[in-house]
Amino acid sequence: MLSIVTIVVSYLLGSISFSYLFGKWFKGIDIRKHGSGNAGATNTLRVLGKGPAILVLLLDGFKGVAAVLLGTWAASGPDHMWIRVLCGLAAIVGHNWPVFFGFRGGKGIATTIGVMATLCFLPTLIAGLTAIVIIAVTRFVSLGSLILTALLPFLIWGMDRPVPILWISILLCAFAFIRHRTNIVKLIQGKENKLGQKRA
Ligand code: G3P
Repeated sequence: MLSIVTIVVSYLLGSISFSYLFGKWFKGIDIRKHGSGNAGATNTLRVLGKGPAILVLLLDGFKGVAAVLLGTWAASGPDHMWIRVLCGLAAIVGHNWPVFFGFRGGKGIATTIGVMATLCFLPTLIAGLTAIVIIAVTRFVSLGSLILTALLPFLIWGMDRPVPILWISILLCAFAFIRHRTNIVKLIQGKENKLGQKRA
């Protein structure tokens, strides 16, 4: 019972859309109607600037960390890893489809990083550093995000991490590709926004 409560709490925590709230607080706007229309750190950078974007990145990441820690606290016995994984997953589902904001949220990358770094630090660090290099070279955050999530299952499998973590990484990769489908089309067409570009 406690596990189910923590999974629900994780979903509610993930549903707190900081980019939406900052848009309202700082500019009185719905960030989902500006820039790329995404409720996430990259679009916050575009629409609100560096300071709010860094805060959104950290807070969205922290939602993932907190959800997995909540699962760790609640779980015991042989299923404990599954509970941690499900709490992390619930936070990302909340971020992408937030109950408080009409189920229209972000693409889940910062929260994914928080969840995966808490579940398996080294593979996430390697995937994260690779993504940073790709973003620095191409200036496409979406490309870095997609490569990060695509790399994780291979790294987790290669480093022999627990099976529930491998499964969540595969699912999160699928989530990321589904949520980035517009970005993928734009990347192919050469129309994707570059980091530092103001308009979508
Ligand atoms: O994490 C989101 C990022 O990969 C793309 O964001 O606003 O450019 O669609 P955006």
